Amino acid sequence: MNHLTRRPRRNRKSEAIRSMVQENHVAVQDLIFPLFMMEGDNLAVEITSMPGIHRFSPDRLLEEIAQCVELGVKTFAPFPQIDEAKKDRFAQESKNPEGLYLRTISEIKQNFPDVVLMTDVAMDPYSSDGHDGIVDPNGEIINDATLEILGQMALAQAQAGADIIGPSDMMDGRVAHIRQVLDKHAFYNVSIMSYTAKYASAFYGPFRDALDSAPKHGDKKTYQMNPANSREALLEAELDTAEGADFLMVKPALSYLDIIKLLKDNSHLPIAAYNVSGEYAMVKAAAQNGWIDGERVMNEVLLSMKRAGADIILTYFAKEYAQLLKR
Ligand code: PBG
Repeated sequence: MNHLTRRPRRNRKSEAIRSMVQENHVAVQDLIFPLFMMEGDNLAVEITSMPGIHRFSPDRLLEEIAQCVELGVKTFAPFPQIDEAKKDRFAQESKNPEGLYLRTISEIKQNFPDVVLMTDVAMDPYSSDGHDGIVDPNGEIINDATLEILGQMALAQAQAGADIIGPSDMMDGRVAHIRQVLDKHAFYNVSIMSYTAKYASAFYGPFRDALDSAPKHGDKKTYQMNPANSREALLEAELDTAEGADFLMVKPALSYLDIIKLLKDNSHLPIAAYNVSGEYAMVKAAAQNGWIDGERVMNEVLLSMKRAGADIILTYFAKEYAQLLKR
């Protein structure tokens, strides 16, 4: 028999020992649950490409939040589906305090004062062009004029009760501009979670189905990052930090675990990972076919993001994961 002094398997010999030496854990309080809302009453429409995830009318959204709160999920990132007729080139509906989004945000905060709401700042759900910035007649996405709109949108959301502003558009200088507008109106306690390294990814498909927010022409490659790049994420992180971001986010997550690790190793800010719609859809589709064990894969996927360095995970699995822990 070989004499082996080092036997790593000793630390794997029982469930109790394995759990004692486990390095990473996913806690429910690490999770942010993205939610989709729509106009109407008593509506819950399942998103075809995202089994288990629905677009809710405001009344049903409140019920969904109540169930999640009961399970320990406390932070939510709502996104609105806006009627096509309310969209225009300048996303003006985004500032309407009586519109679906801002009205529902205030209603959630009134009903659940302890819940944390991270609101989305980007033009695309309200844009007749389906882009995150103003589209020039020649097709260019105009950066600086878009900042004005983003600032107004962030302010309207803060007034409606947002706790964290989530700029998801990738315009240059947006964090600084939003911080300045918020501070000027004494919203210095409203945080900013910047979509710092947001890639031009095909993994957003199901999300765009959920909101009907796909670009009407062209793609998002002149503002979202090239999936081939990693050093550029450091530049974005440096700028967002200097501009006043409170959290940095990497999006998508699963194919970008190296970027999560890179930002974690190079920043002192909390790092968030967005486990996006397409990543959720892949797991659900394979599980529905009986090709993988969906629950175990969900655990493994979330753990991998933690292990890479994510402090916070935005995930459509949030409610299901919390239910699993309860069992
Ligand atoms: C757009 C936005 C997108 C997502 C969140 N905000 C899609 C896009 O950039 O086209 C995607 C989220 C997901 O896929 O789960 N501002």
